[in-house]
Amino acid sequence: MSTKISLTRYLVEQQRIDGHIPAQLRLLLEVVARACKRISQAVNKGALGDVMGSAETENVQGEMQKKLDIIANEVLIEANEWGGHLAAMASEEMEGIYVVPNRYPQGEYLLLFDPLDGSSNIDVNVSIGTIFSVLRKPEGTGVSEQDFLQAGIKQVAAGYCVYGPQTTLVLTVGDGVAMFTLDREQGSFILTEENVRIPDDTKEFAINMSNMRHWDAPVKRYVDECLQGTEGPRAKDFNMRWIASMVADVHRILSRGGVFLYPWDKREPEKPGKLRLMYEANPMSWLIEQAGGAATNGKQRILDIQPSKLHERVSVILGSKNEVERATRYHNEA
Ligand code: AHG
Ligand code: MN
Ligand code: MN
Repeated sequence: MSTKISLTRYLVEQQRIDGHIPAQLRLLLEVVARACKRISQAVNKGALGDVMGSAETENVQGEMQKKLDIIANEVLIEANEWGGHLAAMASEEMEGIYVVPNRYPQGEYLLLFDPLDGSSNIDVNVSIGTIFSVLRKPEGTGVSEQDFLQAGIKQVAAGYCVYGPQTTLVLTVGDGVAMFTLDREQGSFILTEENVRIPDDTKEFAINMSNMRHWDAPVKRYVDECLQGTEGPRAKDFNMRWIASMVADVHRILSRGGVFLYPWDKREPEKPGKLRLMYEANPMSWLIEQAGGAATNGKQRILDIQPSKLHERVSVILGSKNEVERATRYHNEA
């Protein structure tokens, strides 16, 4: 019988072999995984639980919140506040940071999350997920929003959990990308893929085509060349996918390659893009790079961007290296 490696065992071994996961970080990742299990259960209840539909409230981004956005946010906070591993948390669904209450010990890590990614897909039974990023709190007493404003290269762990036909947790601690599938009978995440690699080339792109008229010239050029297929300069036919849950689109790319674009567009010219740097683009970019892919905002590597605010937005191009490099080159040439 082949031995199944649980997430717990994987993390213990990572800690032992490389010593680069301190005990506190291991605990943190276990707690996040446990929270994802609870969110997965809530997602699975669907119309049988009180989890569908709108919460009739708005978040700091001016977006209507779904009930599940709020449930997932609460689950992550409750799971993480008492363990002593965190100093504070930040979330898409909270305007300011959430400092660990002083009735609990304070740890040295900062956790950022998009509790429920792909909210528009909740009510239509399409894959959604949770995205998270872990930073170390800078030295010094107390904790402030400023402490969170670190470039993506400073992440010490990042991942997501996708709630789809299977619930899969995908993780990096800077030593490649590993995938864990939730075994519902056992209630634990089991390692199902290690050393995930993204092919350098692809014939699949992901972008919301309905925004085409709002795009900038380099994005139009890139997509237009893909659409020309064998008759165009790329001399091959491309396929297109758009799930509208970043987790699900990124999961496909980690599984079989592809390129994902959510570029700046003219709809809201003052915003650099739709996706949020610190809890969407940064963790996803690190996972993609760890799997051999690339991630840029069209001009520079996403992980090098110095954030200036918690809910900062960013233009995103990520996935198979050669495609990301090409689309980035078109931006730099323009
Ligand atoms: P969220 O549900 O956390 O607000 O994120 C949704 C994001 C992302 O998951 C997805 O790629 C994108 O929005 C879809 O946007 P469109 O509906 O504009 O296609
Ligand atoms: Mn999101
Ligand atoms: Mn969200």
